[in-house]
Amino acid sequence: MTATRVIDGKAASASVLAEVSAKVAGLARPPGLAVILVGEDPASQVYVRNKARQTLACGLRSFEYRLPAATSQAELLARIAALNADPAVDGILVQLPLPPGLDPAGVLAEIDRGKDVDGFHVVNAGRLATGQRGLVPCTPLGCLYLLRQTLGNLSGRHAVVLGRSNIVGKPMAQLLLGADCTVTIAHSRSRDLPAITRGAEILVAAVGRPEMVRGDWIAPGATVIDVGINRIPHGEGGSVLVGDVAFAEALGVAGAITPVPGGVGPMTIAMLLANTVAAYEARLA
Ligand code: GUN
Repeated sequence: MTATRVIDGKAASASVLAEVSAKVAGLARPPGLAVILVGEDPASQVYVRNKARQTLACGLRSFEYRLPAATSQAELLARIAALNADPAVDGILVQLPLPPGLDPAGVLAEIDRGKDVDGFHVVNAGRLATGQRGLVPCTPLGCLYLLRQTLGNLSGRHAVVLGRSNIVGKPMAQLLLGADCTVTIAHSRSRDLPAITRGAEILVAAVGRPEMVRGDWIAPGATVIDVGINRIPHGEGGSVLVGDVAFAEALGVAGAITPVPGGVGPMTIAMLLANTVAAYEARLA
């Protein structure tokens, strides 16, 4: 049995947020982050509220726009154009998913690439893929921070990324490649997933399937980063949050693992605010 280290994402997030606050205190004006939420998706409302609270707590300005689900593409694009032109706004985030009828790719393409603190614009995705400086998606950035903190130098390690989304899987693989890992991307159509994941020294699970990764999918001593946030029924009429990894089974096998909640989740907002400060600084440069 390995003594598994549980990685404390809250503590790591607090230290990133402290750095952000210290940096913001020394700037000529507070960086501004605009968040647009379209529709009434309950999970998105919770995320947006938390983002605004953290933004203010770190000394940044928060601009929040809640638009009705019936908002048209043209209305949303007009809002983005106004924020692109607003000198007090350094970062713009459009909460995903958008309600049916809106085209997310068309919306993301209109965000000023220098204010694209989610790193979802194709120019920023292309910069990441080609090793150029740009804004990088927050969740993978948070995962990389935790991996570096846990393992130090990542060079030469075999990393398996489970999932190929534009938000997590693909940028995560690019970041690991940039850190000189040997990277395998696996997904729902991959054959014999357990055989692939057992070869991983670093396993990043981002598939959105509750507890899909079992204990015997993990190599002894591997570092496991669980990006999943899945709400499943629990008890009488209740529910509980679980990750993409069967946490209890991973204990005693993995060398280190992020819990859900309290692992990757808190890192995402911290990296969003760090990206907003970076966007502010790049705009002045
Ligand atoms: N929805 C779920 N995750 C994210 C994220 O990182 N950014 C945005 N904009 N929406 C999301």
